[in-house]
Amino acid sequence: MTAIAPSILSADFGRLAEEVRAVTAAGADWIHVDVMDGRFVPPITIGPLVVAAIRRATQLPLDVHLMIVTVHVEASTDVAATLAAIRGAGARPGLALNPPTPLERIRPFADGIDLLLVMSVNPGWGGQPFVEGSLEKLAAARRLRSETGARFVIEVDGGIKPHNAAAAAAAGADVLVAGSAIFESPDYGATIRALRGG
Ligand code: DX5
Ligand code: ZN
Repeated sequence: MTAIAPSILSADFGRLAEEVRAVTAAGADWIHVDVMDGRFVPPITIGPLVVAAIRRATQLPLDVHLMIVTVHVEASTDVAATLAAIRGAGARPGLALNPPTPLERIRPFADGIDLLLVMSVNPGWGGQPFVEGSLEKLAAARRLRSETGARFVIEVDGGIKPHNAAAAAAAGADVLVAGSAIFESPDYGATIRALRGG
């Protein structure tokens, strides 16, 4: 079954713990946490103190999307060392790639990651439209995973709405991130169910 990871970027930050508890109660599988450092992308969002506060608000896995100088394949100068450092710190490493970045960039690391995050918008902001070529990239990611025997989970992030969620899952996404679709809807639970396919 497709897992749903609400992106708290679209939550009300003045009531963040309450929002995290609300999507947890509404059936979310993971909480997607967008850390932006003002360098890799222009905005600055949150740092370790707020991640710790989110950690206290839910038992769900935190899916931390580090848009900083380490984890996007485009940003890291030594990807293998970065992945090893994340694993050494007790977390499970993933690699993200932006829409213009070819999937082949992650092939050398396929065995060393637990998650591949296919960005379906250029990162920085919630509420952007889904980049259409992302479905082909998801399908190619699934092929790459079976060719290499790797076991990473495939996640898609950006512009996911109830109307395109099924296509993204069919193309290859195991986990769907959705920010504005969930947090701008009146009923988080109904939206999460719709994203999951009914
Ligand atoms: C964009 C972030 C996303 C964002 C998605 O930089 O990585 O997680 O919150 O928002 P929607 O679902 O509104 O496109
Ligand atoms: Zn994200």
